[in-house]
Amino acid sequence: MDLMDAVYHRRAVRAFKSEAVDRETIRFVIAAAVQAPSAMNRQPWSFVVVEDQPALERYSREAKAHLLKTMPEGGPLGEYRALLADPSFHLFYHAPALIVICATSAEEGAAEDCCLAAENLMLAAHGAGLGTCWIGFAQPWLDLPEGRKELGIPAHYVPVAPIAIGHPKAPAPPVPRRHADILWIGS
Ligand SMILES: Cc1cc2nc3c(=O)[nH]c(=O)nc-3n(C[C@H](O)[C@H](O)[C@H](O)COP(=O)(O)O)c2cc1C
Repeated sequence: MDLMDAVYHRRAVRAFKSEAVDRETIRFVIAAAVQAPSAMNRQPWSFVVVEDQPALERYSREAKAHLLKTMPEGGPLGEYRALLADPSFHLFYHAPALIVICATSAEEGAAEDCCLAAENLMLAAHGAGLGTCWIGFAQPWLDLPEGRKELGIPAHYVPVAPIAIGHPKAPAPPVPRRHADILWIGS
């Protein structure tokens, strides 16, 4: 797939077919992820792949409950309260797999490096005909001792990017972009 086509047409996908993503394809998108640049070429990333559907159901419940318990009244997440309280809302949209990109240290720059890896992964997935959605709502729970224990994330790692991945049920509609603010300095 043409690079610009992927950049312009990748969308957050929120409805997946139940069909599994084969492991070769999971390895393919992770191989693309690790091509990302990283500060001082530290490549400070690690990947946890969860394919266990009952586990994902459980993580969805736990992460929603944690958010509802901790989100401040009237905060920016307030508009999502009703959705998060809905037992039928699956945080990972019933995706057949979740890839959690973890920083292998809390060192400066490691989380940024993981974000770059995440974008590579999402673009590669789109190019392979798959859909992805970064599930930021899951991150606070994944960072708790119980979330870390569930996924085997070591204490010194930092879960940065939980990414649901699967075969899209339908093409996701375009999402408009704000006008890019550009401040030109110089002649
Ligand atoms: C850091 C981050 C966290 C996100 N968290 C969620 C999330 O928890 N649930 C969700 O449905 N989408 C989530 N998204 C997807 C965004 O809502 C989506 O990227 C945005 O609406 C723009 O749409 P597009 O990706 O289709 O261009 C997240 C995206 C990013 C970058």
